[in-house]
Amino acid sequence: MENSVASDRASAQLPAPSLDGMVGLCAGAMADVNSVILEKMASDVPLIPELAGHLIAAGGKRMRPMLTLLGAMAGSPDPQKAETPKAALYLAAAVEFIHNATLLHDDVIDMSEKRRGRDTANALWGNEASVLVGDFLFARAFELMVSTGDMEILRMLSSASARITEGEVMQMSMAGTPDSKMEDYIGVITNKTAILFAAAAEAGARVGQTSDSICRAMHDYGLALGRAFQICDDALDYGTDSDVMGKKCGDDFYDGKITMPVILAWQEGTAEERDFWTRTLSQQEYREGDLQMARDILSRHNAVERALAHAKIEAEAAITALAPLGKIEENVLVQALVSGARFAAKRAY
Ligand code: IPE
Ligand code: IPE
Ligand code: MG
Ligand code: MG
Repeated sequence: MENSVASDRASAQLPAPSLDGMVGLCAGAMADVNSVILEKMASDVPLIPELAGHLIAAGGKRMRPMLTLLGAMAGSPDPQKAETPKAALYLAAAVEFIHNATLLHDDVIDMSEKRRGRDTANALWGNEASVLVGDFLFARAFELMVSTGDMEILRMLSSASARITEGEVMQMSMAGTPDSKMEDYIGVITNKTAILFAAAAEAGARVGQTSDSICRAMHDYGLALGRAFQICDDALDYGTDSDVMGKKCGDDFYDGKITMPVILAWQEGTAEERDFWTRTLSQQEYREGDLQMARDILSRHNAVERALAHAKIEAEAAITALAPLGKIEENVLVQALVSGARFAAKRAY
């Protein structure tokens, strides 16, 4: 009896966290997106494709362009056979360009040394080159979006790009203030991360000529998935090892960034713990062993686990938003999206 309750519970969690379903459905179209990316990365100025290629060839998970492609399939009765509209390929490439442009800029701001398992572009070529090539990728993204001729999509992705910068600026203003409100943190991650996931998924649905309710569903799905994704990213900064993640752990701590685990630990912190957060995050005075001490304090409050539990709630909200796409048992596309949402909240890289 107990076993069957346990297995019911396990099956309620199916499909399990994974990107495999999304990757499988997108494989053919993604090869075309990669060709567009290579073509649009070209420039007569050799440093541009060299620097951009260093980041782009390292891969990354390609989650945002996959959401665009899946959005474009969402209205089809048989997503596995659906032909991907050319505009969706362009938009998927544009979304990956926007993402990569923000990564080039973000690694300069965060002074990060590792990205996708490689030295960052700023570490290899310097800050100026990284910022300029980031600008180039942004501009190319806009060329691609304009080529689709769809003003509503152009509006949506332009506004998403502005919101990413707003999120990064909000985050900068919050740095060093561990007494920040949780709602301010949610505001930051919504802007800097979730909005692009939402716009990527909705843009795909719009060029796929689906119904308004499916377009809205893809937007809401992307938004909640994006929040789960960033909360998990912020938890991993304290909770995993650099080799798996492909970037350096502890960057957020040394940058004085205020993320969910820190806010939770501050709220319940003793005077001594709060002194520690103030010395490190606020006053930027670091001593040997501080990262381990931060991890120890977080673990006293279960703060990383509680943040991951919150990410899971967001992932389940993303899944709930998918209702207009149909029943999970009958639809491989929905299954892939459900697995992808759970992956966002329970990933190691
Ligand atoms: C990294 O995004 C930036 C965040 C929003 C945390 P990804 O983890 O999607 O980066 P890649 O593209 O897979 O490298
Ligand atoms: C993600 O923020 C960057 C953007 C969404 C613009 P992070 O600074 O947390 O991302 P990583 O950890 O460097 O990938
Ligand atoms: Mg960063
Ligand atoms: Mg991070």
